[in-house]
Amino acid sequence: MQCYDSVLDVVGHTPLIRLNRMSNGFPGIVLAKVEGMNPGHSAKDRIAKYIIAKAEKEGKILPGGTIIEASSGNTGFSMAMVAAVKGYNCILCIPDKISKEKIQLMESLGADVRICPSKVPYEDPLSHYSVCARLNQEIKNSLFVNQYFNEDNLEAHYYTTGPEIWKQTDGKITHFICAMGTGGTISGTAKYLKEQNPEVKIIGVDAYGSILQKYHEDHVEDSTECYSYLLEAVGKKFIPGATEFDLIDKIVKATDRESALLARRLAKKQGLLTGYSSGAVLVGFKKIQPLLPKDAVVVLLLADHGSRYLSKIYNNAWMQHVGFFRSADRKSGISKVVYLREQLRKVIDFYS
Ligand SMILES: Cc1ncc(COP(=O)(O)O)c(C=O)c1O
Repeated sequence: MQCYDSVLDVVGHTPLIRLNRMSNGFPGIVLAKVEGMNPGHSAKDRIAKYIIAKAEKEGKILPGGTIIEASSGNTGFSMAMVAAVKGYNCILCIPDKISKEKIQLMESLGADVRICPSKVPYEDPLSHYSVCARLNQEIKNSLFVNQYFNEDNLEAHYYTTGPEIWKQTDGKITHFICAMGTGGTISGTAKYLKEQNPEVKIIGVDAYGSILQKYHEDHVEDSTECYSYLLEAVGKKFIPGATEFDLIDKIVKATDRESALLARRLAKKQGLLTGYSSGAVLVGFKKIQPLLPKDAVVVLLLADHGSRYLSKIYNNAWMQHVGFFRSADRKSGISKVVYLREQLRKVIDFYS
């Protein structure tokens, strides 16, 4: 019979799909690594499967144990999936800005979801990170996955995403563009790709309001860079230990608005329903496109599926409310602020 033992056996081996209609006349090859086609609909399936299997081998979690994780949604869903298959309990602490679909999805797989404030620093006792650390102390036979500071996060992509992309492009990849959160995806994939060909250029995509780009440039943790933003799962207010900044050649920033609009355009032009961070990656491509050689082979990692954002970027009322449709800019005070902030960012971008 042609069948798999469990859903975990179909994690990874996602397709590379040509983005013919999103490349703005660019003559090179633009390919999307569509991670939303994983069974848990995101690249995080890879780390959940890998990290828990390794923890079991090392005796860090025993049967009947509890997986604990701080997540912006996708890692949580993937951890809940692994926990369901393997019979573990799963507690997920997530920031309150996360879309309601993501919360429902995690709960559907039996996870115990704890919502934590997103506007507090990560060292605050109420942050989703601190709550996980406390629960890990309190619950016997529990494993705090801690993807932000876990080397195995990076390793999962080193052993899977990197080799897949290398093989799928016949070793012809010249540029890899990827959104950065924990940094595990970009770092693990970059490590493998650069070992095959040190000339492959790695471009990270960060959010405005996050400190990653500034840290990459100046090696200082500048908290004045931090403010709240709408993009989910992209950027950080602290430096995650799972990021290898030396492997990254350039980091560009994406605005909340343009990321949302490009994700929507991708859906309508290519029939690919992807998440908010995928729009940010398309912004990253647009920004570096003028610098690319004509024969570049560019791979864009699109981290998750768009079904998780139906109440946000794929919802016209939400787009209107946050001022992402220009007609709204003149109608409400909130929208005007968002509009002016976008204009200011464009000016800053131009001169930086
Ligand atoms: C949709 C999405 N995009 C991008 C990222 C960033 O990936 P990483 O944490 O590996 O840097 C994440 C991480 O949660 C994500 O869920």
